[in-house]
Amino acid sequence: MDCKLAPSILAADVSCLGDQVRTIEKAGADYVHIDVMDGVFVPNLSFGIPIVKGLKKCTDLFFDVHLMIVDPIEHIRDFAQAGADGITVHVEACGDKLYDTVIEILGHGLKAAVAIRPDTPIDPVLPILDKLSMVLVMTVYPGYGGQKIITDTFSKIKKLRSIIDEKELPVDIEVDGGITLDNVATVREAGANVFVAGTQVFEGDITGNVKSFKSELI
Ligand code: DX5
Ligand code: ZN
Repeated sequence: MDCKLAPSILAADVSCLGDQVRTIEKAGADYVHIDVMDGVFVPNLSFGIPIVKGLKKCTDLFFDVHLMIVDPIEHIRDFAQAGADGITVHVEACGDKLYDTVIEILGHGLKAAVAIRPDTPIDPVLPILDKLSMVLVMTVYPGYGGQKIITDTFSKIKKLRSIIDEKELPVDIEVDGGITLDNVATVREAGANVFVAGTQVFEGDITGNVKSFKSELI
């Protein structure tokens, strides 16, 4: 299985964000993961459209935009125009507009992904799996970086991987929250193949951290 590393800039030093993104790109990261928080769907506030637009000038990395906002369908066009390559929306934020939101993402020529919180089952994702490039199984409750991984989520990853493989669908499973060099192999074993890591990439030697993750993911 092809594995990818998606460093989350939530843990980056925003005073030199462009340089930090250039550093992860040079070190071999596959995606840049951009956490968008609205202070409503999650208690925290983070980045918005200007950051996506501005960073686009610094890097050729795939922009993996994780929307932790209510009514994401209202904002897909703006994120598409700003430079998102893939957009992930939360099942819990879409309500009965989940399908329409995914179609809206695809309509802008982007890769569509759907995220589930640790307390959300995989069931709502299954009927639309053939429309998705990726499912994001959150391994912490969304809102903050630097939390400890919730290992109870591994059973959902395993279940989802077996369904995706059985249907022979080209759908990645991304994990996000508390991913470290110590647990990445176990999470991979459960069936994930796209790994978001914030704290563990941006604290300390960024180049060394990216390289260590990549060597775990060969
Ligand atoms: C949490 C965010 C994550 C977060 C991960 O709501 O979606 O992307 O930045 O950070 P770490 O790797 O520090 O848990
Ligand atoms: Zn995220």
